[in-house]
Amino acid sequence: MNKKVLGEMGEVDESAQKFLSSLEEDRWIFEADINVGKAHTLMLLEQDIIPKKAGKVILKALDEAKYSEISGEDVHIAIESFVKQKIGKEKGGWLHTARSRNDEVATCVRMRLRDELIEISYLIINLIESIQEKAEQEIDDLLPGFTHLQHAEPTTIGHHLLSYSQALIRDLERLIGSYKRTNRSPLGAGALSTTTFEIDREKTAQYLGFDDVIENSIDAVSSRDFIIEAISSFNNLMLIISNLSEELILWNSKEFNYVDLPDEFTSTSSIMPQKKNPDILELIRAKSSSIEGNLVSVSGMINSKPRAYNRDLQEINPKLLESITITKNSLQLLEKIIKKIEFNYQDIQESLEEDNSEASELANLLVRKKKMPFREAHNQISKLIKKGHNLKEISQKHDIDYSELGKDQIVSKKQNIGSTSKRYIKNNLKNQKNKIKNYYKKIMSFRKSRNKKLKKLDQKTKEMIKKQ
Ligand code: ARG
Repeated sequence: MNKKVLGEMGEVDESAQKFLSSLEEDRWIFEADINVGKAHTLMLLEQDIIPKKAGKVILKALDEAKYSEISGEDVHIAIESFVKQKIGKEKGGWLHTARSRNDEVATCVRMRLRDELIEISYLIINLIESIQEKAEQEIDDLLPGFTHLQHAEPTTIGHHLLSYSQALIRDLERLIGSYKRTNRSPLGAGALSTTTFEIDREKTAQYLGFDDVIENSIDAVSSRDFIIEAISSFNNLMLIISNLSEELILWNSKEFNYVDLPDEFTSTSSIMPQKKNPDILELIRAKSSSIEGNLVSVSGMINSKPRAYNRDLQEINPKLLESITITKNSLQLLEKIIKKIEFNYQDIQESLEEDNSEASELANLLVRKKKMPFREAHNQISKLIKKGHNLKEISQKHDIDYSELGKDQIVSKKQNIGSTSKRYIKNNLKNQKNKIKNYYKKIMSFRKSRNKKLKKLDQKTKEMIKKQ
């Protein structure tokens, strides 16, 4: 049956109305929309565009609105309806002067995303710090270095762990860059071409804590590249998080037994009581793929879209929110897990025995001591290993002192920037910590300036409400 319902903009088919609605997903931007409404109304009052009496009661109604009390096609219409219900159509009808849902929604999403970027940045820093702390504790404990999942060259736990925190620092840098491009105001762009009312776009941008105005109004309502950029940064971040999770899963297996995962972050099997399954890490690994999927979905929604607003854009917001939720949860959980993992030195030590990972250093010794070209040394050692000789025998054969091939020695002999020796791992740690300190300050300053501006907006709203 083709049941019709009365929507805000006239009669529509009931199922079409349901299909159109984003109210539930818009919960995420409710508060932002209230602030957008307040900033816009204050500006309209200051510019003498709407009557004082109407503006004041609109501000009061906005201040009292709760998500649970609104209803409508989307949050923008629902808030407007709430205001009209509270203060009557006569006065409430002024709220939407000189704006459109198109600039409204773009503004709200940018405001919410910038908050999430700040929060996620803090969570990345927490994870980085927990990794660095572990690395510091295990700074020179030996670990096989793997390539192709085969023992390659000896390294240390500290060196290996700091490789993750170093990558995460780049993710942090990406989010900071993304923040800067997100925190610009589309408000005042209207439907696409601004308005014939004399609005003040810089003022509303300031009220809402934006750093800048997006100048071209068509670009302001059309573009969602800031969302692609954010999801893409989350994707990058989740890839490294998924790598780390995967490694912990492997290391927790009986075959490796390099680490013990904390009990509270594993689950047992419903049938096999001996099992300690790394379910949380497995889910982190899998959920990171959803972000990759969201990146593809959102690119698809933007691809081939004509300029300016099209309803396709609405479908992007839940993808962004899901990506944010996964990223935040994963970061928080992984941080807790990292703090509590225990390394099994005994098993790591055993796995290092006779793993031939000193072979490349033996080749280096032949180069240095016997003046043999590296490729020749490599070939000779490789042939002898294939014939079943061990490195001790090969060293003796070449008159090389085998004791020079101790793994501890190899690790500490590497005296280059970023290498395995304690001195350079410590340097790496120090440099990483300095970077984090600076980024922390930067993120703090983002948050402070945002909070300051929104507090001011709140005060101004309250003052205006009270004004005679
Ligand atoms: N709910 C819409 C969204 O999220 C708001 C903008 C609607 N604009 C329009 N012209 N229909 O994108």
